[in-house]
This record gives sequence, C-alpha cells and structure tokens, in this order.
Amino acid sequence: MTTSTQLAGGSSGHEHLRPLIDTALDGFAKGTIERNGPLPARGPGADGLHSGAGGFPEGSCPETGVGSARALTEMSRWFSQHAIDPADPACAAHLHTPPLAVAVAADTVAGAVNSSLDSWDQGPSGVAIEAEVVRAMTSLIGYSPETATGAMTSGGTESNLTGLMLAREHAGRAANDAAVRGRPRILCSADAHFSVARSAGVLGLGEDAAVEVGLDSRRRMDPDSLRRALDAVDGDGDVPIAVVATAGTTDLGTIDPLAEIAAITEARGLWLHVDAAYGGGAVFSRRLAPLLDGLERADSVAIDLHKLGWQPVAAGLFCVRDATLFEPLQRRVAYLNAEDDEQAGYRSLLGRSLRTTRRADAFKVAVTLRALGRAGLGALVDRCHDLARHAASRVRGTPRLALHSDPALTTVVFRYLPRSGDPDSVNARLRRRLMDEGRAVVGRTEFAGAVQLKLTLLNPNTTEADIDALLDAVVAAGDKECA
Ligand SMILES: Cc1ncc(COP(=O)(O)O)c(C=O)c1O
Repeated sequence: MTTSTQLAGGSSGHEHLRPLIDTALDGFAKGTIERNGPLPARGPGADGLHSGAGGFPEGSCPETGVGSARALTEMSRWFSQHAIDPADPACAAHLHTPPLAVAVAADTVAGAVNSSLDSWDQGPSGVAIEAEVVRAMTSLIGYSPETATGAMTSGGTESNLTGLMLAREHAGRAANDAAVRGRPRILCSADAHFSVARSAGVLGLGEDAAVEVGLDSRRRMDPDSLRRALDAVDGDGDVPIAVVATAGTTDLGTIDPLAEIAAITEARGLWLHVDAAYGGGAVFSRRLAPLLDGLERADSVAIDLHKLGWQPVAAGLFCVRDATLFEPLQRRVAYLNAEDDEQAGYRSLLGRSLRTTRRADAFKVAVTLRALGRAGLGALVDRCHDLARHAASRVRGTPRLALHSDPALTTVVFRYLPRSGDPDSVNARLRRRLMDEGRAVVGRTEFAGAVQLKLTLLNPNTTEADIDALLDAVVAAGDKECA
C-alpha cells in the first residue's frame, strides 16, 4: 500500500493520519512564518498568487502524482503563505472568525470519521451529536426543548433560505390558495442581509418580493413602519409570508427590536424569521443575551457559529420553534430512510435540510461547547465587545477619524477624514494601501453612499494596544494618500 492509498478510517487510520498531519502542520507553520503578517503583501499581484498550485513544476494535476508527503508539505506551505489570517490582530475586515484550535482538531476527526447525517446508516453518532448541539443551542435561544429542533447548515445564507422556504410553505398551506390571493411578500429592513432578497429569488418569488421596512434613528427595524408596510402589502392584495428581523446586522451589529416585532407577527399570524447569523452568539454572554429578548418568539432562527462561536467554516445552525414546522422538508426516500427502518428507531436527519449529504459539522461545535462551556464562550463574546468599545473610544479621540455610531456588538464603523481630496476615494485607497503593504485587512462598507471603514473584532486575543496600532496604521495610510 502506498501512502497515497492509505485511508483515514479503519483500525490503522490514525497511524496513517498522524505523520501526514505533522507534515501538513510543518507546511502550514512554514507558510505562516514566511507570510509574516495578516496577509501577503502586494495584493492580487503577490508572488505566486496568480500561478497558485499550477506554479509547482509538475502542474496542478500531474500524470504521475508527487506523493502525499510532498504534496501536503509544499501545498500547505503555499496555501498558508498566501492566505489571510483571521488570527492576526490586524485582520479585522469580516465576520471571519479565527477558529479555536480545539474546534479545528475536532473537525479533523469529523473529516476522518466522515459521517453523513442524511441517513442513520451513514452516521449514527453524527445524527446523535447534532441532536445534542441543537438541544443545547435551542435551550440557549429560549425555545422549549420539547418542541424545538434544528440542523446545522453551511451558514446564514442557507439558514435564511431554509427559513423562508418553510415560511412560504406554511403561508401557502394556511391560505390554501396563496397564488390566487396575491403576490407573496417578505418584509425586512434595508440593513437585512442580501441573502434574504436572494432567497426570495431562489424561491421563485422574485428578489423584489422582499419589501423594505423603515429604520429608526439607530438603524433598527421600526415597528410602526413594519405595521404600515404590512398594511400596504395587504392593501395591494399581496400576501405577507414572513417578517425577517436581524439580530446583528453585518456592518453595525444592530439588533432589531425582536419582542416588539414578535408582538406584531403574532397578532397577524405571520412567520417571524430572525437572522441572528452574527448576533446569535450573544446567547453565550450574560451581559449581551438580554439584547436578544424576543428571539424565543421567532418561528425560525439562523445562528452562525463560524462567526461569534469561533468555529472553522462551516458551522451554521438553523432552528425552528416547533419540529412540525420542518414538515415541508420531509421526504421518504427508499435508499435513505425507509419507513420501517425509521419505525425501528433508525432515524435520519434527511428532513431537516435542503441538502442530502451533510457532514457532521456539529461535532466540532459539540466538542467546543463541552470544552469551554457557556461561560467560556460568553467570555470570548464579552472580550470582543470590550475591544469594539475600546476601538470606538479611540476613534472618537482621534481627530482624523469619525465614528459612525457606538458599537452594538463587535464591529466599529468609522471613516478617515482627509485634509484634501474626495473622502470616499481616499478611504477606499487607504484600505487597499494597507493590504498592498501587507499591514492590515480593514473592512469597507457604505452608508448613504459614503464609503466607511469597518473593524470586525472577533479575535479575543487581540489587545487594546493592537487596536491602537491598527488605527494608527489607518491614519498613517490615509495621510500618505493625501500627501
Ligand atoms: C446578518 C447576516 N446574515 C447572513 C449572513 C450570511 O452568512 P454566511 O456567509 O455564513 O452564509 C451574514 C454574513 O456575514 C450576515 O452578516
């Protein structure tokens, strides 16, 4: 048996894996040291980034392979050397978390075991562990453990699509003939994630089925505007099928007033989906969890543990208040979940997802929850929130910077104030300068058409001094752009 045909499982799997993991880690370590910072310098023109794996003398798919050890060392080194490292304190652009080592180690085991959750006979322990994770998370949401359930997803995008698909089916069944009554509509704020409108498109409703609800002065969904928007939809003869509230908008981390919105949806018998992809991790924090009051009244919830949960991608979670709401996804498939097998206790999770094959992403989450506990994860959330507050006060105290608003969770939106030149162009260019120099990865967004910079702080090991240095680098880059 050559090293290339050794398998990861079986009684010798661990013996095959151990040296290969060491080899891969050596390459990873070398590449990380060679990169020497949050990203490779010179942006898209960085050495080797164009050629990629094709830059190796044998090409990307040689006729004769180079062997596991060489492929792993060379390519792990290249991959990490040219990567962006979310564990570097100067990498603060996106909801792109630095994963915990314990979660990555657990994920390696999940890869080796290679369960699939769509049928019991591809992963009994995976099926059981996902149920455990769902139980733990639904109870943190505040759902009743007797009725609630859920499933791991690839992330907020898939969770939002799943929630809206179930909402559409639910509304269709309730109305019995929704098509005749009018066009289905989904109500969300202007700051809702773009995947909400895209889900409407994927569902065949058209992206313009997403109706924008007005914001209050803190850019939260305004309940009075929601009432008016619902009345207008009714007045047009259209059919509201769901309200999507956001708990943690992508840029500002704003949390819509969930309890007030729930009161409106409950009174009108409407589906409430809460996109808590970002802010849902606040359930771990005693300090921030009260911001999510009302989450337990939602019909469905999206939470991404690859954001405020420190998991490697993918670790999305989609939960419903009542397991019966999953009914439209149930399928009886002869080769996966025969009725008599299920009656005999061989239960699958096929009916919990739009996917068929589904890896045991819950395993790394289960290990992390047990290793750190709620309080351990809550401390990480609180630390990142503290860092955001520090960054905001530092921005406030820096004459060349202007804060957009106080941070709600762990993001800080601000802009550089140039002495001369077009502020939008200077902010955009200073961000690229920081990347080209290999110094920092700062986020970019826009409000009212004005370019803003953003720090998304998800690294609990970042220090206040790191934040100060990052903001100093922003100012220095801005000054150079104006020189
Ligand atoms: C509020 C919100 N919802 C949904 C998503 C999409 O999540 P994912 O990229 O995991 O699909 C994001 C991503 O940043 C988000 O911020």
